[in-house]
Amino acid sequence: MWALKTFIWIVLAGCLCDAYKLLLVFTFPGKSHGILGEAYVRNLIKAGHEVTYLTASPLNTIPPGVRQIYMKDNIKVYPTESFVNIENIMNNALTLNDAFRHFAMVLTMVNHTITHEEVQRLMMDPNERFDAVIAEWMFSDLVCGFAAVFQCPLIWSSSMDPHNLVLALIDEDPNPAYTPDNMSPVYPPFNFIERTISLLASGLMNYIIWNQRATELEVFTNGFGPAAAKRGHVLPSYDEVKYNGSLMLGNSHASSGLAVRLPQSYKPIGGYHIEDTVEPLPKEWQKIMDEAENGVIYFSMGSILKSREFPEQIKNGLLKVFRGLKQTVIWKFEDAIPDLPNNVHLVDWAPQQGILAHPNCILFITHGGLLSTTEALHFGVPLIGIPMFADQFNNVNKAVSKGIALHVKFNYDTPQNLKVAIEEMLGNQKYREKINELSFAYHHRPAPPSAEFVHWVEHVIATRGAPHLRSPALRVPIYQKMYLDLAAVVVVLVAVLVKGVKWMFASKKEDFSKKNR
Ligand SMILES: *[C@@H]1O[C@H](CO)[C@@H](O)[C@H](O)[C@H]1NC(C)=O
Repeated sequence: MWALKTFIWIVLAGCLCDAYKLLLVFTFPGKSHGILGEAYVRNLIKAGHEVTYLTASPLNTIPPGVRQIYMKDNIKVYPTESFVNIENIMNNALTLNDAFRHFAMVLTMVNHTITHEEVQRLMMDPNERFDAVIAEWMFSDLVCGFAAVFQCPLIWSSSMDPHNLVLALIDEDPNPAYTPDNMSPVYPPFNFIERTISLLASGLMNYIIWNQRATELEVFTNGFGPAAAKRGHVLPSYDEVKYNGSLMLGNSHASSGLAVRLPQSYKPIGGYHIEDTVEPLPKEWQKIMDEAENGVIYFSMGSILKSREFPEQIKNGLLKVFRGLKQTVIWKFEDAIPDLPNNVHLVDWAPQQGILAHPNCILFITHGGLLSTTEALHFGVPLIGIPMFADQFNNVNKAVSKGIALHVKFNYDTPQNLKVAIEEMLGNQKYREKINELSFAYHHRPAPPSAEFVHWVEHVIATRGAPHLRSPALRVPIYQKMYLDLAAVVVVLVAVLVKGVKWMFASKKEDFSKKNR
């Protein structure tokens, strides 16, 4: 008996040793960022780890092994919904100015998070220890400071396709001649104008970041410095910390995005937020979908934009188009509509994955958020994209270039253009064939993305920060990459040579004239 007890204790202790403590930092408010963060939590807990979850989107229920620190006010400091609403988009009000404003607002929000009482208390408590910090990169590098305070490996999480700002943190700026930046509406192969736009866009981003560097440094020092001191160490410099990420987990996959060149420390785990078994649909929706003999068209503009804010003219136009279809339409719409056509059903918050997973779902009309386009690929449903802001243009462009989507612009002509696109989509088999092909490529990986995610997090901790994955490009300054020093040496040598040769000939001439005098 005693031996058995000892054995059980040893086994238990063995299991416990493999349980890691992780700090997850997801400061950006927004439903989709909440979905991504929640999937991290879920998969880490399932693997037996302990999670402290710093988030702007709280979990519905907090499972055992999770401690949540809810940043309730982040949505007030960065009011996503007021910033990008339909009115602004219709009036083309999202301008260059907004890019500056966006970065400034993110900086204020991250500062708010770092200086938050509860967060400071966590950092100041010397008993709090973590094996790794996983921080979402969302237009601010500052969250890297948590890893410096807790002196543990830093793992970045990127919610978008790999782009210049995140790749620069773990490798280098990719070449803008064939890599679109994350907000850019242009897609390669670029013509001359597009290539110029791409260069300017990536330059602009870097300029904005450089422009607020002084403020960032201040936030870094004031926000993390005291905690580091309390723990008895000196805070390393901002650059040392920010270029010290062990890994970047990317919500991307070559099947859905552009196959850009990636450093070894970037792991594409796009699709990890989708669970192995989709939650069954509520009875009412199951029935609607089962009975749709001509198929279901699912229409959702995502979580931030509200379809009810569409101008009346567009709303009525869309209804008219839908009324004329023999398919069933499920529209994510946050209000009631009088005299709704029989084939149109409104849903306030849709069980999106359940709808897309249903074999009767034949078309997805979407704003082109990355979660939506990934889910379409996962479940093999072709798309019509109506991109509105941020990376949505990029996502839709990608899907179009892969032959699985059509692009409809958002304006007063949207209903007519959408009608044409729907007819093309449903009348032409090629989109469905193409998405099935790509969906196969998406699923055909060595391991499911959620398993890969857990594997790489454990790999970083077990190898103390995975230094073997670091890109050598990180330590090479730009003048060396471009061989500007060599160019300078060559220029000097050539100049010296030319001067020397001239001098030789000049003195010969002189000698000659002396002799002949
Ligand atoms: C960089 O990361 C490694 C591995 O996580 C860690 O050991 C080291 O202390 C970090 N250095 C700085 C300056 O943060």
